[in-house]
Order: sequence, then C-alpha cells, then structure tokens
Amino acid sequence: MAIRIIREENDEILRKISKRVEDVDEKIKQILEDMVETMHKYDGLGLAAPQIGILKRLVVIDLYDEKGPIKMVNPVIIKQKGEQEVEEGCLSFPNQFAKIIRPSEITIEALDENGKKIKIKGTGLLAQAISHELDHLDGILFVDKIIPGTLEYVEPKNENKDNKKQ
Ligand code: NI
Repeated sequence: MAIRIIREENDEILRKISKRVEDVDEKIKQILEDMVETMHKYDGLGLAAPQIGILKRLVVIDLYDEKGPIKMVNPVIIKQKGEQEVEEGCLSFPNQFAKIIRPSEITIEALDENGKKIKIKGTGLLAQAISHELDHLDGILFVDKIIPGTLEYVEPKNENKDNKKQ
C-alpha cells in the first residue's frame, strides 16, 4: 500500500482519455488499493486513476457509509436521468468549489477488483460522485461544468470539513 501523489489542475494528464483495463490482475488490485488509501488520506469521496498519473479506467468512491469503498474497473454508464444542482470540489483542484449540474440518478456496470461484473445504481451524492469520477476517465473536469459565477476559492485554514472533494 502506498499514498500516491495527486496530479493538480494544470497537469495535462488530467485531460487525457484513459484506456480500458484488459486484465484485472494483481497490479490493478494494487493500484486500486493505493487509490483508496490516497483518497482517504486526502479526505476525498472519490478518485480516478488519471489523478494519480495512471491512464487506466479505474475509479474508487467512498461515501463513508455502509457501502464502504467501491472499486470500479472499466465503469460504463448504462442509464442516467434527472438533474441535481450540487456543490462540488475535486482533489486535483484543492480549495476550489463550485455549483454544477449532475444527473440525479445514474446506473453503471463495471468489474470489481476481482474481475467480477458489478452493477451499481446511485442517487443523490452517489450519482454525483460516479458522474464526477467517470468524467475524469475522459479528461473532463468539474471546472468545465461550473454554473457561471459560483466558483469559490477556500483558504486551507478556513476549509469547511464538510466540503469533501472528488
Ligand atoms: Ni475530481
């Protein structure tokens, strides 16, 4: 297990399209473990592999509830509907928050860390987190979707602990 370095806003790797994982092997499992550890270390709700400089379609999400950390390999959206206006941040944009529109319900299919097919349906915060992390796999960042005039810069020392990043 290892904490990885999080790539930040001007790093061009964040704009690249990640590749599908062909084999869910021990190396992939290890990356997913490191992603969970890194997400927890920085108090995040989610993390996508390009954020640690790896262009593979890997995502972890943790809403700190009974579902525990969710690990996804090659996630694909199979259904989404509705809209919700949400406050959002990103581990790659420390101290920036803005309002954006996300789907209110989203269903994905993916593989888990053992290569087993999983299907996850999320509403509310989980739908937001899934949408945010899957965007990362296609080089799309939350700053692309900001509702004009809602971007806020928060000083680290004044940071509201409730503002979790993704
Ligand atoms: Ni993010």
